[in-house]
Amino acid sequence: MKTEVLRYLKETDDYLSGQELCERLGVSRTAVWKVIRQLTAEGYKIEAVRNRGYRLGGSGDVFQQTELQSVIRTKTAGQNLVFLEEVDSTNNRAKQLAEAGAPDGTVVIARQQNAGKGRRGKTWKSPAKGGIWMSLLLRPVIAPDQASMLTLVAALAVAEGIEKTCGFSVRIKWPNDLVLNKKKICGILTEMSTEMECINHVVIGIGLNVNIKEFPDELNGVATSLYLETGKNFPRALLTAAILQAWETYYELFLQTRDLSDLLESYHQLLVNRDKEVRVLAPGGSYEGIARGITATGELLVEKKDGTMTEVLSGEVSVRGIYDFV
Ligand code: BTN
Repeated sequence: MKTEVLRYLKETDDYLSGQELCERLGVSRTAVWKVIRQLTAEGYKIEAVRNRGYRLGGSGDVFQQTELQSVIRTKTAGQNLVFLEEVDSTNNRAKQLAEAGAPDGTVVIARQQNAGKGRRGKTWKSPAKGGIWMSLLLRPVIAPDQASMLTLVAALAVAEGIEKTCGFSVRIKWPNDLVLNKKKICGILTEMSTEMECINHVVIGIGLNVNIKEFPDELNGVATSLYLETGKNFPRALLTAAILQAWETYYELFLQTRDLSDLLESYHQLLVNRDKEVRVLAPGGSYEGIARGITATGELLVEKKDGTMTEVLSGEVSVRGIYDFV
């Protein structure tokens, strides 16, 4: 009922009378009043005026289950939403839920992670204030070797969510880091469970630094947040909802072809490496070239000095001159 009350308040610019709320929800005035009191305790500014009713003054950066449920407008992604105050890693929890039978589209979000995981065994700083630490559980009917493309789809979705909610563009560093002013604001860690040639589940973990005010010394110059780059705080619930909405659109396009052919143009527009010099750190040694874009299956196209084109599947790409921390 809390979610519904919030939704009604959000849909109404003017006051919403207590009577109307009671009728819409089929509950007593006392019940409505109790919900209003709970919402106020959670941080909402709700004006209550005699003979007029209730009006929502603003949600600021309220980030919890009810707020998220009131703004998520997807068909599947996040419809089963698990919000935790603290967890080791949302990816770990999503995997546990997957094993227990949680449905496709389940989203796990935590206010704080005490053992957030980054790629290549690194830890991911996930303080209680200001981040979106979220994992999306999927059960796609695709081959295991197609799953790495999902990470690129997720990067696009995060970029679009930011653009829609915050009004500015961030760029993608292939394959799936998001950067703003040459520093990293978002990382994505995809984990998969397979059996024979089938996928049991995929977990896409997104760590987005939104309103984080400071980073430890070792990350200065490397990591940043939307707040640090703009001086503004952004509503994480709306941002999360916009990311999930964009995800759903892009994921549907991906599933139609099981590749990135319908997303190439959008991805290329955001690709920070495009037409830039890169150094490919491959297992067999490193080489340099110019990144020209990606293939429909997500490999980075690198034009070597001798004019030949290579397709980089995995390995580390560093971009000189533009991407300072690599
Ligand atoms: C990277 O190294 O760039 C990937 C970072 C991924 C961090 C996110 S935060 C939510 C999810 N849970 C985790 O433990 N990691 C991912």
